[in-house]
Amino acid sequence: MQHFIEKMPKAELHVHLEGTLEPELSFALANKNGVVLAYETPEALVAAYDFYDLPSFLAIYYAGMNVLVEEDDFYQLTYAYLVKARSQETIYAELFFDPQAHTSRGVSFDTVITGIHQAQVDAEKKLGIKSQLIMCFLREMSAESAMQHLELAKPYRNLLVGVGLDSDERDNPPIKFYDVFREAKAMGLKLTMHCDVNQQDSLIHIKQCISDIQVDRIDHGINSLESEELCELIKDKKLGLTVCPVSNQFVVQSLTSVEIHKMLKKDMLVTINSDDPAYFRAYLNENLVQLQKEGKFSQEQIVTLVGNAFKVAWLDDATQNGYL
Ligand code: ADE
Ligand code: ZN
Repeated sequence: MQHFIEKMPKAELHVHLEGTLEPELSFALANKNGVVLAYETPEALVAAYDFYDLPSFLAIYYAGMNVLVEEDDFYQLTYAYLVKARSQETIYAELFFDPQAHTSRGVSFDTVITGIHQAQVDAEKKLGIKSQLIMCFLREMSAESAMQHLELAKPYRNLLVGVGLDSDERDNPPIKFYDVFREAKAMGLKLTMHCDVNQQDSLIHIKQCISDIQVDRIDHGINSLESEELCELIKDKKLGLTVCPVSNQFVVQSLTSVEIHKMLKKDMLVTINSDDPAYFRAYLNENLVQLQKEGKFSQEQIVTLVGNAFKVAWLDDATQNGYL
C-alpha cells in the first residue's frame, strides 16, 4: 500500500509555503541575512518543535519566518517545496502564503510574491509540477489590514487563483472579513477559509463560511460532521474539504481517520493535505501513508481521496479533465 500511495500522481490543496521552511534552509538563510536563531543546529531547532494546539504551533511558525527577507529567499523556499512535492509524485499544488506576516516585518509585498512566482514558473518548466497561489489573510489582524493587502495584490491579480483566511480562529469569525471576501470575489478570485479542528465556535464559523461568505472550499472543516445541516450544505454545494491528518494529530491526538471515513461514507469531497509539512515532519505521502495505517483505508478509498483533490482543484475544465 505504501508503494501504491507513493507512486500515485497526487494534488495538494492545503499547504502553507511558510510551513514548508525546512530547518536546513532556515539556517542557511539566517546565516546569509544575519538573523540570529535561538538554536545551534537544525536538529536542535526541530527538537524544540512543541505543538499541542493551534496557538502553540503558530508562535513557532511566525518566529521561523524571520529568516525570509529577500526575493531570492522566497524563491528558494518555494522551489524547495516544489522539488520535494514533485519527488513524491505531486503533480499539482495550490500554495498558501501569508503576506501580512512579511509586510509587518518590513518585507515588501512585491519581494514576497515575485520570489514565489518565479519559483512556480521555473518549477513548472524544469520539474513538470503545476502550481497556483492563494493569498491568505491573518484572521487576528484587522479587516482593514486584509483589505489593504487585497489592494496591494491588485497589480498582481493574475498571479493569484484565490484568497484564504488562516491563523488564530479564536474571536476571529469569518464574518469579520465579509467585505474583503466580497471584493476578492468581485476580482474573480476563488474563496476559501480555515475552520481548524476543534476551535472555538467551529460550527458557527463553518456556517458563516458557507452561507455568508459563500466560500468555494473549506480548509479542514472536520467539525462539520457534528451537524447534519452543515454536512448537507457542504454536499449540496459540492464544497471540497482540505483535511490535514498529521496537523490534526497535534490538536486532537488522532489523524482523524474516523472522521475521514464518515466523510467518505457521506460522499463529501474530502481531500488529504500536509498543511505545514516542515514543522509537522510529514509531506503528502507521509500524511496518506500514516492515515491509511490508522484508518485501514482500502486502495479504492485512497484513490477516491486523491481523486477528490483533482476534482475540487481550482483549474479550468480542460486542465482538470486532463488530470481526472
Ligand atoms: N497557518 C499555518 N498553518 C495553519 C493552520 N494549520 N491553521 C491556521 N493557520 C495556519
Ligand atoms: Zn492550514
